[in-house]
Amino acid sequence: IDPTLDLVAEIQRLKKEKNAVLLAHYYQNAEIQDIADYIGDSLGLSQQAAKTDADMIVFAGVHFMAETAKILSPSKKVLLPDLKAGCSLSDSCPPHLFARFKEQYPDHLVITYVNCTAELKALSDIVCTSSNAVQIVESLPKDQKIIFGPDKNLGDYVKKKTGRDLVLWNGACMVHEIFSHDKIADLRNQFPKAKFIAHPECEDHILAQADYVGSTSGMLKFTIEDDAAQYIVATESGILHQMQKASPSKTFIPAPPNNVCACNDCPHMKLNTLEKLYNCLYYELPEVDLPADVIQRARKPIERMLEISE
Ligand code: 13P
Ligand code: SF4
Repeated sequence: IDPTLDLVAEIQRLKKEKNAVLLAHYYQNAEIQDIADYIGDSLGLSQQAAKTDADMIVFAGVHFMAETAKILSPSKKVLLPDLKAGCSLSDSCPPHLFARFKEQYPDHLVITYVNCTAELKALSDIVCTSSNAVQIVESLPKDQKIIFGPDKNLGDYVKKKTGRDLVLWNGACMVHEIFSHDKIADLRNQFPKAKFIAHPECEDHILAQADYVGSTSGMLKFTIEDDAAQYIVATESGILHQMQKASPSKTFIPAPPNNVCACNDCPHMKLNTLEKLYNCLYYELPEVDLPADVIQRARKPIERMLEISE
């Protein structure tokens, strides 16, 4: 790339020229969030992907998100700036192993968290996100037996909130499992008026300390509507950009990770850069595509989710 190129202006120009929409997750770098047409959580992003009239969707997020966009808008070209932007949670649930797991519970309905491959969605009855997991479980009859995967932490949280006994797959997100219980407690002693907010992908002992638990958009909304001046935030650090933008006078402190990790960045989300975004729009590559039968089978459980969360 020509180093004198104004990447932001070029990306805006290419978006217009190609009738492309740029969807970005809250965990993206600030400069990507700032040029996106829509920034949101997984639910909001899939709702946008389903209704866009653009010809092309550029997904500033990770692979499973671009796949979901393709499943919902199969006639559109879906681009992901870096195909290596995967997800540890999705990787923790290989579809062939999940298919065997599912065979052990033939009378169970399968709910999968959207952070999984299209093949896994195709093995499911309903998809959910962190915004609607509780609502989706509660929409089912009380005696309905349910398998929930791949995130055991979100599954545990849903079990507690709904009082239902879910069969859980043992998967987790590498970013949300790093928070240090003791360091958070120390920080709360240091800032006694700060509220502690956490994403339900965090472990149970972290969530037990939280004043609020919710999806990225839920956490953002909470910080806007709540009247505290300081927040300790237990999720990927990208969301702090929108929190700070929405509430400039408040202070947002990333929850401290354990000694092994230096920060709360998701290495997959942070693979996307302005340069890759520009190249991706310019060359219309890399493209995320899926076999027609996978699209067809994975679409039903996603549509069921969208119907319930309307
Ligand atoms: P939400 O933005 O839907 O809360 O998801 C968080 C996440 O980990 C996405 O990878
Ligand atoms: Fe996956 Fe966790 Fe990264 Fe989200 S933050 S993309 S769940 S690894």
